[in-house]
Amino acid sequence: MSEPARIGLLGRGTVGDAFHELVAERASAVEAASGRRPEISGVLRRSEGDFEEILAGSDLIVELIGGLEPARDHVLAALRAGKPVVTANKQLVARHGDELFEAAREAGVQLRFEAAVAGAVPVIRLVQEGLGTIALERISGIVNGTTNFILSEMASTGASYEDALVRAQELGYAEADPTEDVNGADAAAKMAILARLGFHTPVDLDDVPFEGIEGIRTDDISYARDLGLSLKLLGIAERRGAGISVRVFPCFLYRGHPLAPVEGPFNAVTVEGPSITEITMSGPGAGGIETASAVLSDVVSILAGEAPVHSPGRRLEVLRDLDSSFYLHLEVADRPGVLAAIAEVLGRNGISVKSVVQRGTGSDARLVMVTHRAPEADFYAAHEEISRLDFLRAVPRAIRVVEEEFV
Ligand SMILES: NC(=O)c1ccc[n+]([C@@H]2O[C@H](COP(=O)([O-])OP(=O)(O)OC[C@H]3O[C@@H](n4cnc5c(N)ncnc54)[C@H](OP(=O)(O)O)[C@@H]3O)[C@@H](O)[C@H]2O)c1
Repeated sequence: MSEPARIGLLGRGTVGDAFHELVAERASAVEAASGRRPEISGVLRRSEGDFEEILAGSDLIVELIGGLEPARDHVLAALRAGKPVVTANKQLVARHGDELFEAAREAGVQLRFEAAVAGAVPVIRLVQEGLGTIALERISGIVNGTTNFILSEMASTGASYEDALVRAQELGYAEADPTEDVNGADAAAKMAILARLGFHTPVDLDDVPFEGIEGIRTDDISYARDLGLSLKLLGIAERRGAGISVRVFPCFLYRGHPLAPVEGPFNAVTVEGPSITEITMSGPGAGGIETASAVLSDVVSILAGEAPVHSPGRRLEVLRDLDSSFYLHLEVADRPGVLAAIAEVLGRNGISVKSVVQRGTGSDARLVMVTHRAPEADFYAAHEEISRLDFLRAVPRAIRVVEEEFV
């Protein structure tokens, strides 16, 4: 009989506890798949365990503490001691990826982090291993379940953002402090990781601009539905000439987009490239047992000796000056010449209109339009000018629209 694989477990909270149970429950299956039977050899919590002792008594480390410190210190120490590491910590990998990958390479051990992006959905494996040698053009992701639940709730029930957030908290889809989820920071960390793997380049988290969903209004969602659009918080990483861009923002998708039907707390990622057309994966993006399953799959890969294809490559320029098309919501006075005046400002700034609908009359008159793709700086110049027109009753609301058509 082979030696058991001794796992040092750092953190036994929501995911750590589920992982502890899963290891006991699936030990035979892991042994059948990898040739070694896993056992938890030590647990570190705030109130339990000693890191040095756990490290000395384990063959691999599973880090489920979260946050930057002491997680970073422990992961680096484990790698430098020649122990493979599995982590679910997106902030750690996004913020300190260069340092961690370097330490893993130098020690010749694996660092795996499937659970750090999209929970149970094996998207890291897809991008890093399945498509590791394929040229990719774009990775688009709904990588935050909290915001996808809130937007779905607003669309299906007509709830306000605030009420939908409370509902998400009641159902356990949002933390008591949801800031990092709703402002887009959590999704930015995950997209930085996907971009790094998909485009084989270091990506600094500070190069990933993000916007959240706090300012989204329910009527934007319902008006846009009339134009065939649904709203998502989307991360997009794509090639731009010799560089790339990576960003997170709320945006409308046309119904034909593979991510448009993804509802509730689910996550989903679409990967595009000339040789694969498009591949989309979706599933639960969080939850104790769901995340623990992804952690266990990494443990099995390490025990089976499957090394991921990881070459950091040269640093590509990360571009920020981009083209986009926009949804524009204007509350206007109901009088002749309004549409012509707005069209004149847009036209002068090089923005053309793809579709427009008028809603309401009198003091409730609104114009809702979708523009064609143009440099964002030109659109915002027009937006600024329009907001100063005397017949505007409120600041115009603008939300990006992803125009890509899929067959
Ligand atoms: N929850 C999810 O659905 C989910 C989904 C995807 C990824 N993740 C990631 O999984 C990781 C764990 O998340 P979680 O939700 O399980 O967190 P959690 O419930 O807050 O558990 C954290 C655990 O770490 C321990 N810990 C905290 N600070 C520590 C310290 N200074 N020293 C030693 N132990 C410490 C805690 O100890 P005590 O028990 O003593 O408090 C607790 O056992 C995070 O990186 C998170 O981003 C979570």
